[in-house]
Amino acid sequence: MAFNFKKNKTNELIQLDMERIPKHVAVIMDGNGRWAKKRHLPRIAGHKTGMDTVKTVTMAASDLGIKVLTLYAFSTENWKRPETEVNYLMSLPGTFFDKFVPELIEKNVKVNVMGYIDQLPNETKIAVQNAVEDTKDNTGMVLNFALNYGGRAEIVTAIKNIATDTSNGKLSVEEITDKTIDQYLMTSNLAPYNDPELLIRTSGEERISNFLLWQIAYSELVFTDTLWPDFSEDALKDAILNYQKRDRRFGGIKE
Ligand code: FPP
Repeated sequence: MAFNFKKNKTNELIQLDMERIPKHVAVIMDGNGRWAKKRHLPRIAGHKTGMDTVKTVTMAASDLGIKVLTLYAFSTENWKRPETEVNYLMSLPGTFFDKFVPELIEKNVKVNVMGYIDQLPNETKIAVQNAVEDTKDNTGMVLNFALNYGGRAEIVTAIKNIATDTSNGKLSVEEITDKTIDQYLMTSNLAPYNDPELLIRTSGEERISNFLLWQIAYSELVFTDTLWPDFSEDALKDAILNYQKRDRRFGGIKE
């Protein structure tokens, strides 16, 4: 077995089983505002450092052999924030891709976006579309940004599309299975890695906040107190180690 060694917080050597690295890891990046507040900085300073963490974690995830890294960057509910904060968050994809696309290409990382992209400001949409286009031939890890994404909205859209296709004869009601639902969700193009094995939420909050509601049916959930701007390669390894200690039975029993 291949192991990747690292030291934990108390300096003990811990081992990651490289043959059991989760293929799809999803992250609710939370705590940017609190990180900034602790430093008497404006909230957007937390988002700016959070953006650098996105790069660090992307590189670390790619090095570990993760196939898909899905990051919750902006939810359908985040529009409720003050306009200045929303505008800043909408400027981040452009800043991030301007700065890091060459490194993403070097790492063979492919950018994907899921969410209601058409409702984004034009510059944000263009920045995202360019990054997707510039990295489309890459064959390594998929860096999947959830932008203007909401799990319930995604399910409503899928149901509407299924209903349309059944009424126009493309799909029969009897044919509908959970695979059909997979195919109508925004993660369909991530197949065979539609569902994350591991979902991490930073900042100590322990809720799902409308993220990947269908896809996390059997995911292992890891909650960490670390605020997103402080999250690191080691923190990612800690979360994976935690995942590897779990006993995944998918409703069955252990042999
Ligand atoms: C939640 O923290 C964080 C967000 C709503 C935004 C997350 C965005 C980033 C980490 C940067 C994204 C980067 C790119 C490239 C798109 P919060 O503001 O709710 O924190 P709080 O709960 O402490 O207030």
